[in-house]
Amino acid sequence: MISKKTIQDVQDRVDIEDIVSDVVTLKRKGSGKYLWACCPFHDEKTPSFSVTPDRGIYKCFGCGKAGDSINFVMDHDGLNYVEAIRHLATRYGIEIIEDEQTDSQLEEQNERDSLYIILNYAKDYFQDQLLNSDEGKSIGGSYFSERGFTKQTIEKFELGYSVDAWDGFLKEALANAYNEDILEKAGLIVRKEGDKKYDRFRGRVIFPIHNVTGKVVAFGARTLKKDDKPKYLNSPESDVYHKGKILYGLYQAKNAIRQEDNCFLVEGYTDVISLHQSDVENVVSSSGTSLTEEQIKQISRFSQNITVLFDGDAAGIRASLRGIDMILEAGMNVRVVVFPEGDDPDSYSRKLGTSAFKAYLSDNVVDFISFKTGLYAEESAKDPLKKAQSIKEIVSTIAKIPDGIKRAIYIKESSKLLEMDESVLVAELNKILISERRKGDKKRIEESTGEQMLEELIGEQEVKEIDQNGLIKIQERESIRLLINYGFNEIEEEYKLSDYLLEELEEVEFVTPVYLEIFEIFKKKLAGGEVIDSDYLLANGSKEIKNEVIGLMTERWEISPNWKEKYHIHIPHENELLETVVFTNVARLKFRVIQKLISENLVKMKSAKDASEQERLFMIHSELKKSEIELAKVLGIVVSR
Ligand code: UTP
Ligand code: MN
Repeated sequence: MISKKTIQDVQDRVDIEDIVSDVVTLKRKGSGKYLWACCPFHDEKTPSFSVTPDRGIYKCFGCGKAGDSINFVMDHDGLNYVEAIRHLATRYGIEIIEDEQTDSQLEEQNERDSLYIILNYAKDYFQDQLLNSDEGKSIGGSYFSERGFTKQTIEKFELGYSVDAWDGFLKEALANAYNEDILEKAGLIVRKEGDKKYDRFRGRVIFPIHNVTGKVVAFGARTLKKDDKPKYLNSPESDVYHKGKILYGLYQAKNAIRQEDNCFLVEGYTDVISLHQSDVENVVSSSGTSLTEEQIKQISRFSQNITVLFDGDAAGIRASLRGIDMILEAGMNVRVVVFPEGDDPDSYSRKLGTSAFKAYLSDNVVDFISFKTGLYAEESAKDPLKKAQSIKEIVSTIAKIPDGIKRAIYIKESSKLLEMDESVLVAELNKILISERRKGDKKRIEESTGEQMLEELIGEQEVKEIDQNGLIKIQERESIRLLINYGFNEIEEEYKLSDYLLEELEEVEFVTPVYLEIFEIFKKKLAGGEVIDSDYLLANGSKEIKNEVIGLMTERWEISPNWKEKYHIHIPHENELLETVVFTNVARLKFRVIQKLISENLVKMKSAKDASEQERLFMIHSELKKSEIELAKVLGIVVSR
């Protein structure tokens, strides 16, 4: 365990400006206390990502991502808390003190560290062999150049070569004082009975496999002989390499995945590498094994969208269908591109060249419904029974989607594609969902389904909308009340309530005209460096404003002294609670506004002109829902998901 002291040291030492500047260029606007940049977490052209150095925090007004330096590193690099602390400690040269580790924990940690060290040493060795040994240059080097891999690519993926000898690496490693046990644990040598031992990888080109932070954890080694088996020899599992948790290329791809908000999923090492050479960097590979939940979760840290690239052979496609269902089950979106028979992404990208290949990707991407429909179309056309079967297949995939609205959208779309009445599909879907429910899988079926469900949801929302403005008004009134009565009060040292409120509510459009007017006056004055109060409004406001202000001024929490004495209790004056009161008000107002936006968006969704429009609105719905849930958490409110 990392000691509290180390965590504290990291927190004291990190500088948000420094951390964020690694990724984006921060600029100050005028003399404001914010620094601004285009958000590294979503795609935008004008900066809405802010950093407040004196508070050590960042916040994006576009996508809502916010937090401190540690959160930033976690989010940006896809690390967990402990990994982020380690990363920052290393970066700032802070000694990592571990405490309360048992001897066995310590041993484990040491062993993992040793594995990383030896694997990195091996990677350097294979690289050196490729670039500098005669055999490496003539055999490995010419193989890579035949495949069209450039020098930069070889460097980027740290490719190497293992000479065709029994103990080339073993000898070298022993000479450098590495011990046999760790070499074996790392899967670099094989030990047989009678203490025979030899290099695992011989006469092969080497593809190092990195974890998400860029450490080498394993190798894939391809033979150069035509009929040699296996084609790729991979490292066995170890303490640092769990096949099902690693995606080849994720380390090199993660920034691009976030930037493009999409991740291409391919089968092999060479597919990943060739796509990079074709200027497509948001690509990872499950390395020939079937996709795992853990791998999907890894991708979801960077994007909710996966595009699966299929080689053009039908058997391979059928075998991978489970992967699509799993992605949908994780609540993510999945699209598909199929390549012509006999080609994989590697061969096809080289055949077409960069721009034609990219065009192929964008011209041939289909959502999974069209993909599955196409897959069964040929068979179904001839045989009605087959058609029934394929409808079941498709609907059962839709049933994997956790979100009811999304399911409704896909049902609508497949009804068109399958030329099948929607109600038939909904009935089939319900059948599956009900049997799922019977199986006790409650999670997926919280909502009912199909068109009806959308109706219900919207009907409910329309009723809600009537008092939504009323709810917003209550919070707007409260914001104005706080501004008028306590605008000058400091909620933190040198941080006035009015500053906080105006900053926080910058993005919020007030709906009640009189509060909007007052709020705008505050904003205008504050922009000129002036904080106003009730006196100013009473002297300069319209009649309506004056009335409102008088009403609000009397609403401080005045508690009669008698009452206090009578009950022997100390009731804190609002002043003492100001920070909490204003924070809650801001959160509540935003919460109400978000709820209204959700309703409005649902209504739009109902009248969307086509499925893609509906899908786009649905994305908005999900984002809003996320904010709603986050705010609800802050407020201790429970909302439906
Ligand atoms: P493929 O057989 O499609 O290989 O296996 P490939 O990626 O196209 O490789 P090249 O172009 O022939 O060099 C896809 C992936 O399955 C894993 C590897 O990760 C490979 O990239 N695989 C395949 C193995 O791990 N072992 C094998 O023997 C074969
Ligand atoms: Mn290939």
